[in-house]
Amino acid sequence: MGLFTGKKGIIMGVANEHSLAAGVAEFLKKEGAEIGFSHLPDKEGGPAKMLRRVMRVAEPLGITFVRPCDVANDADIARFFGEVREQFGSIDFLVHSIAFAPLDDIRCATIDASRAGFLTAMDISVYSFIACARAAVPLMDKGGAMTTMTYYGGERVVGGYNLMGVCKAALESATKYLAWDLGPKGIRVNAVSAGPVKTLASSAVGAGDMLHLYSAMAPMARNITNEEVGRSAGFLLSDMASATTGEILHVDCGYHVMGSPGRAVLT
Ligand SMILES: NC(=O)c1ccc[n+]([C@@H]2O[C@H](COP(=O)([O-])OP(=O)(O)OC[C@H]3O[C@@H](n4cnc5c(N)ncnc54)[C@H](O)[C@@H]3O)[C@@H](O)[C@H]2O)c1
Repeated sequence: MGLFTGKKGIIMGVANEHSLAAGVAEFLKKEGAEIGFSHLPDKEGGPAKMLRRVMRVAEPLGITFVRPCDVANDADIARFFGEVREQFGSIDFLVHSIAFAPLDDIRCATIDASRAGFLTAMDISVYSFIACARAAVPLMDKGGAMTTMTYYGGERVVGGYNLMGVCKAALESATKYLAWDLGPKGIRVNAVSAGPVKTLASSAVGAGDMLHLYSAMAPMARNITNEEVGRSAGFLLSDMASATTGEILHVDCGYHVMGSPGRAVLT
């Protein structure tokens, strides 16, 4: 019997096999969960590029509920969670692994970010967690757990992370306030603060360049994998973490505890 035997839930934000959410899906599936995916919709009339990519993860795991949901659109969120209700009835967990900022507004200094870019980045990277959590609550009638994905650049300045750091600070705060709101309903809300992993989204904020820094500076002297993100998110979503909510769990080989460049300058 697995940690998630008899549990059902939704993972939002698998783009391809490199996505952090793919690591979560693999772990939860191995532990017995029944899972549905949402994905960014393809352009109407265009090729089904997004769907094809997400199916590369869904198919080998035997996941058949794979539906589009643009989290910037309230009607789409409502339709998607309606379909989730039809398929699953109730759910036990929700994974939100979604972020976006216009490239021009993230590749510039924070001081130069446009108002429109700021609003888009906050909408998709932060508000969407609140909106999806609200839509999921009626399906978690027996309680449940939600997890989002954040990064250390929301706590401290990380050069190059720029506007997304501002979004992650807001996302971490939203995680704590959602934990407060939903605690009485038996729903826990946490976040995994992952070290850099090369993915589609992280290439926009230079995660590739950060890998060397992490292996040089982190106490564990290496980088993380998305399998490790999967296991840690799985812990937070499981009954093993039954008294943990509002937590930002660092999965970064200890990088966040460093107060100096450590072995990067000592060796
Ligand atoms: N990769 C890293 O180094 C790293 C580290 C810490 C935190 N994170 C966070 O992990 C989360 C997942 O990112 P990832 O690195 O796995 O990259 P990814 O590109 O695989 O995932 C990002 C997902 O967001 C989705 N998305 C963007 N806009 C959307 C919209 N309007 N509606 C629906 N979906 C939308 C994309 O389709 C994609 O599935 C993000 O919140 C990211 O900030 C990533």
